[in-house]
Amino acid sequence: MTTWTPADMPDLTGKTAIVTGANSGIGLPTALELARHGARVVVAARSAEKGEAAVARLRQAVPGAEISFGRLDLADLASVRTFAAGVDRVDLLINNAGIGMIGRAETKDGFELQFGTNHLGHFALTGLLLPLLVAVPGARVVTVSSDAHTIGKLDFDNLGLERGYGRMTAYGRSKLANLLFTLELHRRAQRAGLDLLSVATHPGATATGFVKLGPLQWLLGVFLQKAEAGALPSLYAATSPAIRGGEFVGPKAKLLTPSETARSAEVAARLWDVSTELTGVRFEEISHH
Ligand SMILES: NC(=O)c1ccc[n+]([C@@H]2O[C@H](COP(=O)([O-])OP(=O)(O)OC[C@H]3O[C@@H](n4cnc5c(N)ncnc54)[C@H](OP(=O)(O)O)[C@@H]3O)[C@@H](O)[C@H]2O)c1
Repeated sequence: MTTWTPADMPDLTGKTAIVTGANSGIGLPTALELARHGARVVVAARSAEKGEAAVARLRQAVPGAEISFGRLDLADLASVRTFAAGVDRVDLLINNAGIGMIGRAETKDGFELQFGTNHLGHFALTGLLLPLLVAVPGARVVTVSSDAHTIGKLDFDNLGLERGYGRMTAYGRSKLANLLFTLELHRRAQRAGLDLLSVATHPGATATGFVKLGPLQWLLGVFLQKAEAGALPSLYAATSPAIRGGEFVGPKAKLLTPSETARSAEVAARLWDVSTELTGVRFEEISHH
């Protein structure tokens, strides 16, 4: 089998794609290829300056493409609500933004920052956009997780990680939550008979601003794949007709097996209930499934 490339993507004319964190790293080439294939693209970023700069770069790369900026801070539920309220259509939601491996901090709403941004922010965003997603045929939600989910553990009695905080364990936990959410959304959408696919990805170790090495940042470019390669799993998950929902797509568009915990429907249901409680976002269309 030949390797899948963005040249294999179908025409996306008429579709609207929202890419969170599209201003840099893996999100930028993801947005670029979606625009190249005809999608109207929303660059969802927390900084207007960086977001508008990315829009300008994308417009230059794909003349005539319909690209806009939307301010979205995933670490602030009020910002997530304001962003979602301004969306009029979405066919492809790419939950790409993320932070990782930083000292303990909290979101505006008081959630541990990595869990709050990577998981709860995207959970709320997806739920708020669900009425629009189910209103179009063939909608997809792609959530960028990581193979680091395997080190993640979910202790529901210590969700704030006030005890035993570790940069990497907090990151792994947020990426485990991304996978549990993806698979639970898939199950609920199926049970509700919705025309909606939920897919997770692992980009592979990629040279982006994600890992901060200071003056040695250039070393990443020597050892790790480029952002374009990191975008490939998201692009495949968002557009390949081979996707059925519930997959975990890895580098070179190969399917991966999530960890045992990530596959647990029981843990996923509990996380879903806790996330609903914490964010106040209810997913009415699938809440009884
Ligand atoms: N790079 C890797 O090796 C690797 C491996 C596995 C998984 N991943 C995953 O890939 C995804 C993309 O990461 P990347 O490597 O492209 O890193 P990156 O270059 O640091 O990009 C992360 C993006 O997320 C945005 N972001 C962070 N906090 C946000 C918030 N509160 N609200 C809105 N946007 C926010 C950042 O915005 P700012 O520019 O404003 O900071 C940036 O645009 C992440 O989910 C990450 O966990 C990466």
